[in-house]
Amino acid sequence: MILPIYAYGCPVLRKKGEDISPDYPNLKEIIDNMYETMYNSSGIGLAAPQVGIPIRLFIIDGSPIEDINPPGFKQTFINPQIIKEWGEEWKYEEGCLSIPTIRENVSRKPELTIRFLDENFVEHEKTYDGMAARIIQHEYDHIEGKLFVDHISPLKRNLIKSKLNNISLGKVNHDYKMKFVKK
Ligand code: NI
Repeated sequence: MILPIYAYGCPVLRKKGEDISPDYPNLKEIIDNMYETMYNSSGIGLAAPQVGIPIRLFIIDGSPIEDINPPGFKQTFINPQIIKEWGEEWKYEEGCLSIPTIRENVSRKPELTIRFLDENFVEHEKTYDGMAARIIQHEYDHIEGKLFVDHISPLKRNLIKSKLNNISLGKVNHDYKMKFVKK
């Protein structure tokens, strides 16, 4: 089932996600629905708060990205903890399904190690770099109540202020189902 994606301005996007246990209600269904919702909106990552659920869960399918490492990178992350991030920060233009039409350069460290549970609650500890690391950092931000626009300079943020406000009001073009706070 395709779920509405919560837009910028919805309070759930600002909540720190809670850890979950294997008996979390309808977990398999939630994960399946998140994949369906992500593919429907041509996204490469989606975090549970973006579908209105403030838990530590996000999914990634970076396979459309050429040269991503590991190839065909696809992973469900439950209760993840980034253990360390390192290297010289690099900039890349990011977007977000919760903030349609806005793209901005974000600086992030190129490498990280993350500990997480997969959809079967098997624990992994893995190191990622480049685009895979960047998508993880973007989605990890979501479960910490952060958004990529939080990383840009106050000046640039001021420039997009009215655009962000319009998004929260639902005044934005989007070709997938969304939920707005003031509509
Ligand atoms: Ni996002």
